[in-house]
Amino acid sequence: MTSKTIVVVGASRGIGKSIVEQFAQNPDHRIIALSRNLDKMRMAFAEFENVECHLIDLASDTIKNDCEIIFDKLNSIDILINNAGTLVNKPFTELTREDIQLSYNVNVIGVMQITQAAVAKMDHAHIVNISSVGGFQGSVKFPGLSAYSTSKAALCSFTELFAEEYKETNIKMNCLCLGAVQTEMLEEAFPGYQAPLSADKMAEYIVRFSLTEDQWMNGKIIPVSLSTP
Ligand SMILES: NC(=O)c1ccc[n+]([C@@H]2O[C@H](COP(=O)([O-])OP(=O)(O)OC[C@H]3O[C@@H](n4cnc5c(N)ncnc54)[C@H](OP(=O)(O)O)[C@@H]3O)[C@@H](O)[C@H]2O)c1
Repeated sequence: MTSKTIVVVGASRGIGKSIVEQFAQNPDHRIIALSRNLDKMRMAFAEFENVECHLIDLASDTIKNDCEIIFDKLNSIDILINNAGTLVNKPFTELTREDIQLSYNVNVIGVMQITQAAVAKMDHAHIVNISSVGGFQGSVKFPGLSAYSTSKAALCSFTELFAEEYKETNIKMNCLCLGAVQTEMLEEAFPGYQAPLSADKMAEYIVRFSLTEDQWMNGKIIPVSLSTP
């Protein structure tokens, strides 16, 4: 099947925005773009008739219900890209409870609850979680990123657990642990650092991966990195 319904979470900027733009080049695809910034997404995707934008906040207590209302109008979901993420960069002892809660609400709990809402609309589907090399066991770690990287590690673990629970179905889940990509998030975390990959280049890989690789893998945690800062 070449025409797919694709949900991209975290679509207003960076890698998620590039993912939507690349899927939208195929007019047969229907893309649902989600983030907290509706105006920004509508402006970014104005030229594409096959992109619908909706406002969601992964940190909200109502995220599952909010997504159920959006997904209710769809016949099915073929691809879900859990790309949204938030990064708190602070020395460990300065992290507040709110900092840690925000990291886990957006990077883990929100992702699990969007997935719960999406699964109800899935038959044959590929879910791709976007984690970080910082959350990949044994990889290089950075001071200041304990809230962020531990939450990304939890996302990796969720991928393995979901895949086990759904292994008898045609719903596959894999997780990509990204290295450095030149985006606003990277600039905030590592000011002045120049990443070797652009958002467009990384999105090219994620789009291709999401369209094909569920035929060969499920529950896999894959580092995708030319370099880390
Ligand atoms: N760039 C890198 O070097 C790098 C490396 C490793 C992993 N990653 C991961 O790759 C993914 C994309 O990163 P990026 O660099 O493109 O980041 P980015 O430029 O900061 O974009 C993040 C996206 O997530 C959305 N988002 C953040 N909080 C949200 C919330 N509470 N509810 C809904 N949407 C929310 C943002 O939209 P709004 O603010 O409009 O809601 C935005 O569209 C993230 O998961 C990140 O952790 C990036």
